[in-house]
Amino acid sequence: MKDRLVSPQMSAEEEIIEGSLRPRRLAEYIGQEKIKQNLSILLEAARRRNESVDHVLLYGPPGLGKTTLCNIIAVEMGVSMKTTSGPAIEHAGDLASILTGLQEGEVLFIDEIHRLARAVEERLYSAMEDFALDVMIGKGPSAKSLRLSLPPFTVVGATTRVGSLTAPLRDRFGAIYRMEYYDPESLKEILIRSARILKVPADIEGINEISSRARGTPRIVNRLLKRVRDYAQVKADGVITKKVAQEALDAMEVDEIGLDQTDRNMLFTIIQKFNGGPVGLDTLAASTSEDSETIEDVYEPYLLQLGFIARTPRGRIAMRAAYEHLKLTPPMGEGGGLWATP
Ligand SMILES: Nc1ncnc2c1ncn2[C@@H]1O[C@H](COP(=O)(O)OP(=O)(O)OP(=O)(O)O)[C@@H](O)[C@H]1O
Ligand SMILES: [Mg+2]
Repeated sequence: MKDRLVSPQMSAEEEIIEGSLRPRRLAEYIGQEKIKQNLSILLEAARRRNESVDHVLLYGPPGLGKTTLCNIIAVEMGVSMKTTSGPAIEHAGDLASILTGLQEGEVLFIDEIHRLARAVEERLYSAMEDFALDVMIGKGPSAKSLRLSLPPFTVVGATTRVGSLTAPLRDRFGAIYRMEYYDPESLKEILIRSARILKVPADIEGINEISSRARGTPRIVNRLLKRVRDYAQVKADGVITKKVAQEALDAMEVDEIGLDQTDRNMLFTIIQKFNGGPVGLDTLAASTSEDSETIEDVYEPYLLQLGFIARTPRGRIAMRAAYEHLKLTPPMGEGGGLWATP
């Protein structure tokens, strides 16, 4: 995939800086009020019973703070955390060695949990439910199955596509939280906090300008902040003002609502090549040279949220708001007519 300024996915360089910007405690975690409320009850109850926290599933678009929230769960419970991911656990044996290495109460973060191999997933069921692990000893006719008991622990699963999770796996989670795009006020608060930590001088209009182009996503707001800071230092006096932010982001082709070339290309493709749609995901992927999973997980969620596109059983369609944003004339009358109502 191309390097996009508004990609919600993390780059290698970011991994290092993100550490300093990550809130450590639940009270520092901005926005997602509903999740915070429910989670604080879940944690408090576990603390009072002196138990490990129930398994938690977090789902939603990338860059909204799933990893951060998992860290917070561990910190708030005063336990350590191990991190792995669905594709990293290739065999049942890999899972066994992770699970047998867990300390009591420890948090096991499984990113991209929808990508677990079937055989691994099935082993995980009993581990999550009964804190037990069945292992095979030996090979062939003399092989024996042995049940190992594990100390209680907490799985925190993260996924961008909850629909791809099997029902039995989903059922093993006591709490399932859906992450939402951040509202403008929360996003501004995140930006102000990051600017303070990174010691970047910015006025409120500069803050507004950056946050309104950040697609409701903390990872993107932090990234735009760093790029605008560079611009402010090279082209201005180092202070982020509205003018500096506008110039910087215009130069980087991030428009006033945070769309970049890739988003616009996708919308133009649906509208101009396919008459506004419906166009199937695979066709859209082929004509934009993007892969369909990336379109679904990364590009589409924000366009759906804006009401620029809609999903229908026959494919994606462009909505009136997209035409207006691109300054194109929407089709008239009922012909095709799908663009008006999803
Ligand atoms: N509620 C928040 N308050 C302040 N900063 C936040 C918040 N949520 C996320 N961030 C910031 O956004 C960055 C991205 O968050 P995080 O890595 O947790 O996202 P993610 O949902 O795990 O993304 P991915 O799906 O790509 O793994 C973090 O470095 C953190 O600094
Ligand atoms: Mg993450």
